[in-house]
Amino acid sequence: MSTKVYEKLMSCYDSVREKIDFVPKVALVLGSGLGDFAKDIKVEATLSYSEIDGFPVSTVPGHAGQFIFGYIDDVPVVCMQGRVHYYEGYDISDVVLPTRLMKLMGAEVLFLTNASGGINTNFSAGDFMMLTDHISIFAPNPLIGQNIDELGTRFPDMSTVYDKELQDIIESVAKENNIKLQKGIYAQLTGPSFESPAEIQLLSKLSVDAVGMSTVVEAIAANHMGMKICCISCVCNLAAGISKTALTHEEVQQAAAEAAPKFKLLVRESIKRF
Ligand code: HPA
Repeated sequence: MSTKVYEKLMSCYDSVREKIDFVPKVALVLGSGLGDFAKDIKVEATLSYSEIDGFPVSTVPGHAGQFIFGYIDDVPVVCMQGRVHYYEGYDISDVVLPTRLMKLMGAEVLFLTNASGGINTNFSAGDFMMLTDHISIFAPNPLIGQNIDELGTRFPDMSTVYDKELQDIIESVAKENNIKLQKGIYAQLTGPSFESPAEIQLLSKLSVDAVGMSTVVEAIAANHMGMKICCISCVCNLAAGISKTALTHEEVQQAAAEAAPKFKLLVRESIKRF
């Protein structure tokens, strides 16, 4: 039986396919600071989210909302320039709709990027962290509700969400280009407020290395659909209480912008080898 969530997804898919027939292999979600990654892509077409009937449109400053279709070397990619965050007030099913849509378009690999606050005391602002695993218990699970059998199974295994082969590729690219790459566990909280120092202490006790407001729900939805997933986080600041100063969105954006050249290189060169 078809659900409302599935009907909406398929209606967005039909709306995309009326305009564009591009079939991507890799889906790339651009987090803060990677917004101008389009310059690294041989762009074939763009599609503004507002042109897709029923598609959730982002309201965050600095998050343009469009799909970019094109090639990195000869790898066909679809890029989300601007993602949808739960804290904007969307249903969790809308937050993961774009991820599901990119899989329906043909993407087998999901490359997530984001900005985070560093909790691991070995981390510095400006570091990159490749996700080895995540903690999802602070954000609603996007698979709650009637299972969409067309997309995946009711109880998906979560033992290896972040693909080991993709992690190996990213690690070698970082090594070859002298880019410092941390590895660790990321937790998604809902935001939009940053965490309190007590919350960061709690997360630290739970072995969380970096915290942010996105990614995990997208990874769960993609894993449900059988995508290969990887994620690199730009640790833009040290988390509350670890940092001596108050946190601002501007500081996060500035740190992400400074890290952007290396971040782009790491993403671009990794995709070429996928
Ligand atoms: N907390 C949550 N999300 C973030 C942070 C943070 O410190 N920095 C960048 N995104």
